[in-house]
Amino acid sequence: MKLLLGVTGGIAAYKACDLTSLAIKAGHQVRVVMTRRATQFVGPLSFAGLCGHPVLTDASEHPMDHIEHAKWADVACVAPLTANTLGKLACGLCDDVLTTTLMALPAGRITVLGPAMNTEMWRHPVVQRNLQWLDALGRSLVVPPSTKRLACGDIGPGGLAEPADLLAACEAVFSKG
Ligand SMILES: Cc1cc2nc3c(=O)[nH]c(=O)nc-3n(C[C@H](O)[C@H](O)[C@H](O)COP(=O)(O)O)c2cc1C
Repeated sequence: MKLLLGVTGGIAAYKACDLTSLAIKAGHQVRVVMTRRATQFVGPLSFAGLCGHPVLTDASEHPMDHIEHAKWADVACVAPLTANTLGKLACGLCDDVLTTTLMALPAGRITVLGPAMNTEMWRHPVVQRNLQWLDALGRSLVVPPSTKRLACGDIGPGGLAEPADLLAACEAVFSKG
């Protein structure tokens, strides 16, 4: 499977390294696209080292890379998915390399979404509406967040799903073709 992994600027961005590592060890190819904010949490070099391919960021210099990455992918996954990028996806905004790449995915490609955020953010009606809207469009699969004590100290839903569960969702999407 050729997995395009989008990483956004949440505290759980480091867990995307585990997901990358798991996918590589399982024999998949991985390419990573990061938001500018995500690069403040984890350096692109970590992902480049794990997946053996340069990471696409807003600082990347090849103008058509977003199209090439979108065509390359069998399955896309965004983990962690911030409330901010979720909102952009629901509205069709493409103001960074990640949202532009996802918009360029060929029809029929499914994006696995791993939302992760503070419990109150997760429960916010706008966040829930955005998830429902994307679900209705039929081009994404949400792996719900876990309920636990979050980095902010709150106890409730909002923790990123386990990397193994995210990978299993990607593999299931791929096997359905
Ligand atoms: C320490 C810290 C942790 C954050 N964690 C999250 C998070 O887990 N989920 C989230 O939706 N936003 C989180 N944010 C807010 C996002 O970083 C912010 O909304 C940002 O604009 C997201 O940009 P992006 O979606 O382009 O990556 C966090 C911010 C800070 C400073």
